[in-house]
This record gives sequence, structure tokens and C-alpha cells, in this order.
Amino acid sequence: MPMTAKKIYLDNSATTRVDPEVVQAMLPYFTEFYGNASSTHQWGQRAKQAMEEARNQVAQLINATAIEIVFTSGGTEADNLAVKGIAEAHASKGKHIITSQFEHPAILNSCKHLESLGWRVTYLPVYHEGIVRLADVQAALTDETTLISVMQVNNELGTIQPIKAIGDLVKERRAAGQKHLHLHTDAVQSVGKIPVDVRELGVDLLSISGHKIHAPKGVGALFVRRGVRLQAQAHGGHHERDRRAGTESVPMVVALGKACELERLHLNEFMTRVGELRDYLETELLKRIPNISRNGDAECRVPHIANFNFDHCEGEGLMISLDLKGIAVSTGSACASGSIEPSHVLTAIGLNHETGRGTLRFSLGKETTKEEIDFVLETLPAVVEKLRRISPKVAANK
Ligand SMILES: Cc1ncc(COP(=O)(O)O)c(C=O)c1O
Repeated sequence: MPMTAKKIYLDNSATTRVDPEVVQAMLPYFTEFYGNASSTHQWGQRAKQAMEEARNQVAQLINATAIEIVFTSGGTEADNLAVKGIAEAHASKGKHIITSQFEHPAILNSCKHLESLGWRVTYLPVYHEGIVRLADVQAALTDETTLISVMQVNNELGTIQPIKAIGDLVKERRAAGQKHLHLHTDAVQSVGKIPVDVRELGVDLLSISGHKIHAPKGVGALFVRRGVRLQAQAHGGHHERDRRAGTESVPMVVALGKACELERLHLNEFMTRVGELRDYLETELLKRIPNISRNGDAECRVPHIANFNFDHCEGEGLMISLDLKGIAVSTGSACASGSIEPSHVLTAIGLNHETGRGTLRFSLGKETTKEEIDFVLETLPAVVEKLRRISPKVAANK
């Protein structure tokens, strides 16, 4: 890490700092209450009690009940369990899945795996605004569809998808007899950032990741609505009501529970305070830097993500220059085969090799301050100007 006085972390969608309160909550479960939650003696019962309290805390954040929460090793495992678990359990009723083009690789690659085994997958377009359209979901549905999996919030753009409307559609189809149709949403980027209510959304399954909400990396959860049949993906003991075998990591589960409790208590404050800071960042950047534009719908999105396109700049160059000044952001493009290529998310909203290479995502967090945003606003214009001066494209136009 470069030696610099400033350390401004605006990459909270990649991961978050573990909250000190979360660390305090989990520590005793390493050295003091270290029992196996499956043991019947008091050590085991103490661990089980802590795990059940955490299950309640997770459930409360999303308006679920505790028995509907399955602990996993993170968002990726929750997504795998949802997609493959539903597909396999209901294969006799149909082998068609609907998802979107800009899902996380945990969903896309689970779907690709199923395609290789004979499932058919429809990848819905997300258009310029980065939002799935209900009419497309409706048009893609067949009697053979067993699963619709659409993320609640896209991780690069922050756009919110119409999950409730899809949920209403699923309920209608089920009432009409298509009992094997299920709705999953990857809520890794929405939980703790906007209100998430599984009943209101009408979802059957929902994925959560701990490290996006100030718990450690390596823990997550899958909400599985009561009554939903799911094929376990790991075979072993009867943990997690036969849905996820393996001795539970009690400290990590306790951490996830505490993090969910904190997110629930501070959600409104987060949305207001961080939303104002994000809007301030965007307004000022648009004023201070020419030839930049926002990516993704400006209305239907989470309060903490800003995604910008900088003409005649490369995202990698911008990101590295900001890193040298002590500012962490992420880029939506990466070097592939020697040239800078936009991510699959940016490609899905229609950005190409030329237009999508200069993209940055700023993801603010509960610890972000106005002073930090002001420093970014003072620093970034000069960085952009410098990179544009040496851009071959700008030079060619001179
Ligand atoms: C939308 C989304 N889904 C799933 C994941 C994977 O979660 P985890 O890192 O906990 O495996 C991420 C992480 O970046 C994500 O942003």
C-alpha cells in the first residue's frame, strides 16, 4: 500500500470494514464458548443458543422467521445453493431458468453449469438504464420454468430491480397451477442498504453476504421460505435442517447476526446521510469535470453507489492514480487480452470497448464523511485532466 496520509475508502460494495462491535460479539466464541453447536453438553448448547440468536437477528432484518435462514460461507454459496438447489429439486417439473444478463458470476456460472447439464436458461436484457423489464420476464415464462433469479441491486450500478412486481407475477402463476415456479433474489448489495422485506417482495429465496455489511468475509445466509423444497449441495450431516451440511462456524454466524442487528438499527440514518453525500459527490463531479456521465438509472437505485463514465480516460489508470492519493474506488473495466474491456455489467447496458473503458464506481459506506468526499472532489479533476492530456485519443484529435 503506498505511503500516504489520506486513506479514503470508497469501495464498500467490494467489501466493508468489520464493525468493532461485531468483532467484540464474535470473540468469545473462539476461546470461551467454543463448543460444537451439534453437541448436547453445555458447551454445545451455549454455541447453539448463540447461533439461534444470530438466526433471529438475520431473520429480523429481512422480515423472515428464524427457521427460514440457512447459514452459508457467503453470498456465492448462497447463490449456488439457491439456483442449483431449486433446479435439481424440481427438475421433474421443468428445466427452464430465467435470470438477467448482469447477475453476479455466482449466479451466471451456476446457470452455465446447469446449461451444460441440459437446462435451458433465458438471460434477460437490462437496457441502458440497467433495469430488468417485467414484460420481458412475462414473455420468457413457460410452464417449464422452475426458477426466476434476478438480483435485487446490481453491484456495479446500484440499480434496483422490480423484484416485488416479479414476485406478484410468480404468485399469479402459482395460483394458476404452476406450483413449481420459484423466485430467488441475490440481495447481497441491497440488504442493510435499503429496506428488504421477503414477504413484501414475494421471494422464495434470498441471498445475503456478511462482508458487505460489516461482518467478516466467509459468512452469509440464504433465506428459504418455509415449505420450499431445495436439494442440498454439500452432503454430510444434518446441519441447517439438512440444507447445508458441515459444522457451523459459530463465531462467524454470531458476527453475521450482530452485523444484521446493527444494519437494521441504523438503516434509516444510513440511507439519509450517505444518500446526501453520494448526491453531493455526483452533483459536484458533474459540475467540476467536463465530459463525464452517470451510468445506470438515476432514480431507481441504492443511496450509496455512484457509477461514472469518464470520456478519454481509462478506468484502470484513474483507479491507480486515485489509489496513489489514498483513495480506493473500483473500475468497471479490466484488461482482457491486452486491451481494456468493460465488465459484463457495462456491456449489458450497452457500453462498448470505446465507451465503457473509463468507468469508476464509488461506493460510500456508513463511515464516509463529507471531508472525505471534499478531498475526492479536490483531487479527481486534476487526475482526470492529466490522464486526458496523455490519452492517445485526445492527442489524435488535437
Ligand atoms: C451481487 C453479489 N452477489 C454475490 C456476491 C458474492 O458474495 P461473497 O463474496 O460473499 O461470496 C457478491 C460479491 O461481490 C455480489 O456483489
